[in-house]
Amino acid sequence: MSAADTTGLYFRQDYFSAPAAWAALVSLLDDTFGINIDPLRELGGPDPTSMPFGWFTDEGVLAANLSAFAMPFVLNGRLINAAAFQSGAVRPPWRGRGLYRDVTGKALAWCEARDFEAIILYTDKPALYEPYGFRSLPLHKYVGAAPMSEGATTSRPLQPRDADDLALLQGLLRNREPVSETLAVASSSAMFLINTQLDPDVRLSYLEGGEAVIAWKMPAPGHVVLLDVVAREIPSLAAILSALGIQATTVATLFRPDRLGWSGEATPYGGGIRLMLRGLEEMSLDHPAMLSPMADF
Ligand SMILES: CC(C)(COP(=O)(O)OP(=O)(O)OC[C@H]1O[C@@H](n2cnc3c(N)ncnc32)[C@H](O)[C@@H]1OP(=O)(O)O)[C@@H](O)C(=O)NCCC(=O)NCCS
Repeated sequence: MSAADTTGLYFRQDYFSAPAAWAALVSLLDDTFGINIDPLRELGGPDPTSMPFGWFTDEGVLAANLSAFAMPFVLNGRLINAAAFQSGAVRPPWRGRGLYRDVTGKALAWCEARDFEAIILYTDKPALYEPYGFRSLPLHKYVGAAPMSEGATTSRPLQPRDADDLALLQGLLRNREPVSETLAVASSSAMFLINTQLDPDVRLSYLEGGEAVIAWKMPAPGHVVLLDVVAREIPSLAAILSALGIQATTVATLFRPDRLGWSGEATPYGGGIRLMLRGLEEMSLDHPAMLSPMADF
């Protein structure tokens, strides 16, 4: 494999605390994917375990980047000491010079030095990662009739941009029970928090007294989509619907609902995005499942 052509560029890693370099990453991701991660600064900052690898120009433009971070998750009831890759992008003028291969190699070496059992990532280009031993996991949501609401808990909207609400949410994220035993993140607060800002349709509700935050959408009257539940003890779907105060006829959960006291039918998630896993070759999902989109990175 030939070495990358890094003419006119210099390499930096672990640069998130340098404001100009952070701004260069925000710009790269905005230009490449149309997403703005800058609000993370007001939401507790990027994941503290993040290790970005980037090639910069002398003018401070970030030409190529890939970030790794620790992302422990539960798979088939077992806590996996995993890392994740995110923010992989190369600006068009610098593509085809081996820069992405270079940062991928550096990120893999960082993970190997830290003895992570596995690495996961989301991509719409699986061919980019297959040569490194990543394989795609099939993703399934669960769909079915809504249960009868039950319980007297009420809820209120939660605003992560409000300091008190942010502190409440961060506390729950730190001590959450994984939303599913089959496949779920163990913590990864930063990903949840930035995802509340990236999709304007996501609603957050705090169940009063129930110590739970529900991330949900209502894309059509009577149809509720549950994206995630952040709680020390996951409430039942019947209690959640009652607290949200909505009349639902059908429900979709974007995770396996094994802790919700409800079972829908597993349905392929669709969409062009793949969740890929490297390592744990002997393991596959015991049940159809997907990672909550609130963990998307
Ligand atoms: C995909 C992308 C990161 C590639 O960057 P690059 O610097 O041009 O890639 P490199 O020159 O390092 O090529 C690395 C390898 O990937 C392959 N590759 C490049 N683009 C590819 C693509 N779109 N699909 C599959 N493989 C690709 C190259 O052929 C090369 O293979 P080799 O190692 O066998 O020679 C860049 O085109 C980009 O930023 N695209 C938009 C954002 C994106 O898709 N990010 C990654 C998705 S998570």
